Amino acid sequence: MKNLFLLLTSVAVMSFSSCIAASENNTVSTELSAVSLNETSKAETLAAEGTETSSSYKYTAQDVRNLQDFILAKPAKEELAGKPYDMNGDDRWDTFDLCLMRRRILEDTASKSDKDTLVVYFSRTGNTEKIAQYLIELTNADSYVIEASVPYTDDDIKYQDDSCRANKEQNDKTVRPGIAVLLPSIDGYDTIFLGYPIWWGQEPRIIDTFLESYDFSDKTVIPFCTSGSSGIAASEKNIAELVPIGKQLEGRRFPASAAKNYVKAWYDTLPLNEGKEDMKLKISVNGTELTASLADSAAAKELAEKLKAEPVTVTLNEYGGFEKVGKLPWALTKSDERIVTEAGDIMLYQGNQMTIFYNSNTWSYTKLGHIDNITGEQLSELFGKGNITVTLSY
Ligand SMILES: Cc1cc2nc3c(=O)[nH]c(=O)nc-3n(C[C@H](O)[C@H](O)[C@H](O)COP(=O)(O)O)c2cc1C
Repeated sequence: MKNLFLLLTSVAVMSFSSCIAASENNTVSTELSAVSLNETSKAETLAAEGTETSSSYKYTAQDVRNLQDFILAKPAKEELAGKPYDMNGDDRWDTFDLCLMRRRILEDTASKSDKDTLVVYFSRTGNTEKIAQYLIELTNADSYVIEASVPYTDDDIKYQDDSCRANKEQNDKTVRPGIAVLLPSIDGYDTIFLGYPIWWGQEPRIIDTFLESYDFSDKTVIPFCTSGSSGIAASEKNIAELVPIGKQLEGRRFPASAAKNYVKAWYDTLPLNEGKEDMKLKISVNGTELTASLADSAAAKELAEKLKAEPVTVTLNEYGGFEKVGKLPWALTKSDERIVTEAGDIMLYQGNQMTIFYNSNTWSYTKLGHIDNITGEQLSELFGKGNITVTLSY
């Protein structure tokens, strides 16, 4: 317990000092204080409009970006009213809230996770981030965003200028830019997807900082990148030579415009998934046999164990024109998060109910799996309008 306290305290100190470091960074501090003054009443209004409490909300990297953009007076990418960003309850949104939010995300990721896959990425202009988000959805993995202690400004990445920060760093293989808030540990993960943009044919040096911060000797690492046109090979070689890695799988370069299906097509070919064909949940409904891939969650593993012992039959009731939902014979471990569901998703709802979606909904669920190779229309037709009885086996 003492160690955990020390760990969390040090993460808090790291988060706080990195935020202070960002504030001390040239233009950022001026912008921050100016914005804090100009935007105070707007922040107070937004904080007062908060409908969710910060204690129950599951913060994501998007929330960090939203709050950062707000503090820097950049236009918001989504509606911010109602967001619980007043972390310290002082009726305003500022850099202290940003520090506390980052700390919460790390605590949630590192200490409470039951997942064995982590998607880590660095993205300065959002291209790699888009691919990373697809991977996170496909794998249902935890995620961690590498952010520089001193953020890269637009001038820092103006690669047409020989003396810009990124070019200087890439020209010196020994440079290790600091990371704002390091994950306390990666011990709980077996597989790590590592994403980055290509900078001058290679991985940005901050990726090397990340790699040298942990022990990867028993991990499977899968690099992925985005670039204008350069391939991933040189960066893969650098990564392989930098630190001992248990197993490094062949990575993939994506164009910024790559669609989710394109990323999925690559993901499905990874040797990671070999041998998993037989590890399918089987769902029998109205005489039709469906298979589903299990999610990477404790609840999904528990479900598989229960079904190995004996199949179960569950009655699912029609609800809302988008799902069939019914009670399971047992409760499973909840790790609820706000999810936008897709047709075919199988979710645990309130810990002891199973929901199969034939259309989309947004709510707090724990993912159990996803039905293979079927569209929403086909599922809707198979399920019909009323209640159904399904038999699950494994
Ligand atoms: C400093 C710098 C160097 C770059 N060097 C290359 C390069 O050598 N080859 C290439 O194809 N693209 C290069 N790019 C383009 C980026 O790889 C590309 O825009 C990438 O998708 C950006 O990813 P991000 O949005 O996740 O930051 C470079 C970009 C920057 C900022």
